[in-house]
Amino acid sequence: MTPTIDRDDLIAAAEALVAADGELNEQEVKMLRILIESVEESEENSFSLNETEAIFRTITESDGETSFEETSFIRNFIEANFDNHQENREEDNVIDATNSTSATEGLNLVSTDELEIDGDPHIWVRNLDLHYGSVQTLFEVSVPIEKNAVTALIGPSGCGKSTLLRCLNRMNDLIPICKIDGEISFEGEDIQRRTTDLVTLRRRIGMVFQKPNPFPKSVYDNVAYGVRLHYKPSRRRLNEIVENSLKRAAIWEEVSDRLHELGTSLSGGQQQRLCIARTIAVEPDIILMDEPCSALDPIATAKIEELILELKKHFTVVIVTHSMSQAQRVSDYTGFMYLGRMAEFGKTEQIFSNPNNELTRRYISGRFG
Ligand SMILES: Nc1ncnc2c1ncn2[C@@H]1O[C@H](COP(=O)(O)OP(=O)(O)O)[C@@H](O)[C@H]1O
Ligand SMILES: [Mg+2]
Repeated sequence: MTPTIDRDDLIAAAEALVAADGELNEQEVKMLRILIESVEESEENSFSLNETEAIFRTITESDGETSFEETSFIRNFIEANFDNHQENREEDNVIDATNSTSATEGLNLVSTDELEIDGDPHIWVRNLDLHYGSVQTLFEVSVPIEKNAVTALIGPSGCGKSTLLRCLNRMNDLIPICKIDGEISFEGEDIQRRTTDLVTLRRRIGMVFQKPNPFPKSVYDNVAYGVRLHYKPSRRRLNEIVENSLKRAAIWEEVSDRLHELGTSLSGGQQQRLCIARTIAVEPDIILMDEPCSALDPIATAKIEELILELKKHFTVVIVTHSMSQAQRVSDYTGFMYLGRMAEFGKTEQIFSNPNNELTRRYISGRFG
């Protein structure tokens, strides 16, 4: 029998693929709409490996390039659905990605009163619902973020990790169709109030993205830019801040004699540390990281992980990662998200050694995702 996947799985995968590089551009959204329409009109309810690959190719090539994230997404998807297809089907009937009503039945969600942390909360998310247009993407998500600790968000592609992360500094405001209900309190104040000063909020809660994105400016100016904007320091003070931030981001030794070269001329791993230096330079309280290592090689990844452990001495860190081993290495707390819900939250050690939820167990043991 030739393995196939059904149309719901295919549509879910196509959506996740489009979002795999952390951004949705206009062409991608358009391509996705056309694809969904044509899949919905098609007679069969199932697609072969060849058809699936052709559909992915159409999507990834719509913007003229296939990114690393897209390639690895497709590889994982094909492996999960076709290579071990039979086995997966028998065991994983719960994990029918978009069939959300049946898939979430019996899923024990974390309730707000079960959430415990040892130290002081820096952010508290309570009962967050989020819609993109008419599509609900987050469902009653609650999670505490401990101060000076690392909290990892894990879960299958498309489950809402990046969406939740973007809520924490109101980056979702940039998406007009996005509507949020619930509470996000940061040091006791709800950041969603109309009076929140977004410039200050985003300085205090900085963000590092999936793809390193230095400005097309010198290494020095990449770091100095935000500092000038927020603090108007003297030239001498600015030099100190730039040097200090590059040191704290563990990249000073590699760039001290290249400060006037373009930030974009550095290697990928260096660019990511430069972006971290840029974030640190404006003295944030919290650093959000969305799969910061997914475009990096293992050595560059190890350097960032080491840096994260250093950063938590001064900052609160929230990191989205698809790497189970990375979550285990760097985080104190882990939230496992599934279909827009917070399915489990707890100390990283407990989540990985003795999860309460069967779904968490299967996800961390690599059975799906
Ligand atoms: N800007 C957007 N507009 C519409 N839908 C979006 C947007 N960003 C993400 N989504 C959808 O929300 C869901 C969650 O996406 P995301 O938060 O990127 O998941 P994850 O980071 O866990 O892979 C996906 O179905 C995705 O297609
Ligand atoms: Mg994401």
